[in-house]
Amino acid sequence: MKWGKNYISDTQRLFRIPLHPGSLEATKLIMSRIPLREGFTICDIGCGVGITLNFFANHCNCQRFGVDISFKSLRRIRNHGARLLNASAENLPFRSGVFDLIIIESVLLHCNMKSVFSEVSRIAKPGGQIAINDSFLKQNRPKGVREFLAHVQELTRVPIIPPLTLDESSHALASTHCEIEFMTDTPQADSSSSIHRAYGKFIRWKYRIKASHNLSQYLENKIIIARKIIE
Ligand SMILES: C[S@@+](CC[C@H](N)C(=O)[O-])C[C@H]1O[C@@H](n2cnc3c(N)ncnc32)[C@H](O)[C@@H]1O
Repeated sequence: MKWGKNYISDTQRLFRIPLHPGSLEATKLIMSRIPLREGFTICDIGCGVGITLNFFANHCNCQRFGVDISFKSLRRIRNHGARLLNASAENLPFRSGVFDLIIIESVLLHCNMKSVFSEVSRIAKPGGQIAINDSFLKQNRPKGVREFLAHVQELTRVPIIPPLTLDESSHALASTHCEIEFMTDTPQADSSSSIHRAYGKFIRWKYRIKASHNLSQYLENKIIIARKIIE
């Protein structure tokens, strides 16, 4: 199957809204838990067309980096001083221990989660934080999830890897010397907004996804904030 590496840029370009659970409300919740300081080094992994990166630019005077596997997405960033790298979350082109904050929003479904955790922990400073807003496999491991995700992959041509459960993710993070400081359900996005409705309609039309295909049957969206332990 030909991977639709640039799938997001093609859709996000049209709407320029965040493509993660809970939209910008979720990013704001993360930021309310993490006091940003002048000079912070921040990395957005799977930054897409840079909406979160630009949001950070408006809220603190920090050094911002964005990484995405899609070159086309990076080219579409209306960049306000962030450094952009075309690379995979599973093999990050940074030295160890350089970031105060690493943010990951709606990327893990496309990656090997354990590899990403190990990489983000490596590049975090001791005491640095990792903020994740993403989808996890429901704890009761609903039947048919693999078939369902394979079907979504087939429709969208986007690589989809069945994610870990929350428990498994917590263990994986702990094994990379990170401890979880905060965890909550991702807030619901304001679904009444016309742009979100239009986006949902567009995706269903583009990928011929029927209303009965319901990700929330299998996955739950959570915000996790973890800190790299100072040894
Ligand atoms: C659903 S979008 C989320 C984009 C952005 N984080 C946001 O919240 O709007 C997923 C993004 O992850 C990127 N991506 C997928 N697999 C990746 C990988 N292995 N490494 C880095 N980025 C990846 C895609 O190109 C896409 O931009």
